Amino acid sequence: MAIDVRRLAGDAPAEVAQFLRANAVAMGRSPAPANAALAPTLSPTVEPDRCLVAVDGDQVVGTAQARTFTLSVPGGRDHVPTAGIGGIGVLPTHRRQGILRRLMDEQLGDAHDRGEALACLWSTEAAIYPRFGFGVGTFGHRVNVERPAPRVTADTGGVRVRLLDGDATKVVATAAPVYERLRTLVPGVVNRSAAFWSTRWDDPTMLVVVAEGAGGDGVDGYCRYSTTATWCELGPANDLHVDELVACTPAARAALWRYLFEVDLVARWSVWHSAPQDALPLLVDDIRSLRLTLSDGLWLRIVDLPAAIAARDYGPTGLDVVVHVRDSTCPWNDGTWHLTDDGATRENSNDNGAALTMDAADLASAYLGGSTIADLARAGRVDEHRRGAVAHVDAAFRWPTLPWAVTWF
Ligand SMILES: CC(C)(COP(=O)(O)OP(=O)(O)OC[C@H]1O[C@@H](n2cnc3c(N)ncnc32)[C@H](O)[C@@H]1OP(=O)(O)O)[C@@H](O)C(=O)NCCC(=O)NCCS
Repeated sequence: MAIDVRRLAGDAPAEVAQFLRANAVAMGRSPAPANAALAPTLSPTVEPDRCLVAVDGDQVVGTAQARTFTLSVPGGRDHVPTAGIGGIGVLPTHRRQGILRRLMDEQLGDAHDRGEALACLWSTEAAIYPRFGFGVGTFGHRVNVERPAPRVTADTGGVRVRLLDGDATKVVATAAPVYERLRTLVPGVVNRSAAFWSTRWDDPTMLVVVAEGAGGDGVDGYCRYSTTATWCELGPANDLHVDELVACTPAARAALWRYLFEVDLVARWSVWHSAPQDALPLLVDDIRSLRLTLSDGLWLRIVDLPAAIAARDYGPTGLDVVVHVRDSTCPWNDGTWHLTDDGATRENSNDNGAALTMDAADLASAYLGGSTIADLARAGRVDEHRRGAVAHVDAAFRWPTLPWAVTWF
């Protein structure tokens, strides 16, 4: 039977239930709702009109959704309209029949129609999305530390760390402005809606500490974490897991890490995705106590090439180059472009006039400054046709603050 890909009927409870069930089965989660007596409903952070279903007869066999985000980009002039793609799943009975490809074509076409310059997602498996023009836009580190923790030797500049009380509304009111400030400093950070804060941050098992500047001049950072109490033969051996550490100043960053490593009774510390700019090895006295694993963060895609190129700032030498971009998934981007600080204009000539050739996924990898054009060229992903072009574009795309994605969706 032919598979139909269409918008979710968000007001039809039976279809919403099938949407949630299909996604849970695809992701390997229990398809039973948390409270079986309640009809399954979409999270308030989900936009029903941006959810897609692939239907085989009367069965939902594939799912996808998009969120309407803005993303911080180098320069921070404006936050760029971006589709946050997620909820992708295809039932095991229907895999490898081209359903993901159809869902992705539909989502990216819709993002383009809505005027979104970029799309982003978190990926379960790293091999899936490059073929759709996504590159790794941001990196982070998985951090694991075992007792004894290192000593934070970096200067904390008199910053005080204070534990917030458990009232979720008050906690969010303190953390949200710091998060917004981070977006002006760091590329790769999506906006968080009120619904996001209220649903994701309403977890009484989480503790939140804030870093307050010396002299009471406001909150410069926060850390949200949880602990699990464990007792072994030799005594307490707790686990401390950091969900999110956001710091807008070096002193706040050092103070929060010092606080975490000094929490009593902890035997193991873990952070699922710490910021590369935390430069943790430089903050502590014993670099060997840290186990850092590099991991991909946000996967990025250029949806509207001229809009994306115009949206970010470039290095002091500026951007002025003709590039041939290969893009089979979003054919409106495919071709030869003159890229400047002001945007991109299509060249009529074919790629013979281009100084560089690259795939859309590799342009996306470099877009936020997470990967450099020089590294991409060394990896054989960028072809240089005119001497010096790699060096020129490398200097233009580099950004002093590495991108980091702190919001998982
Ligand atoms: C990943 C998943 C969505 C793929 O769906 P699908 O309908 O089988 O994918 P398609 O048949 O449309 O495949 C499209 C292309 O992606 C490739 N592909 C699909 N899944 C892949 C995977 N896990 N790893 C590498 N490549 C993959 C296919 O080989 C195909 O390549 P081609 O176009 O070069 O031939 C599906 O296997 C799934 O639901 N997996 C479990 C849940 C999950 O990981 N979801 C992703 C959340 S980010």
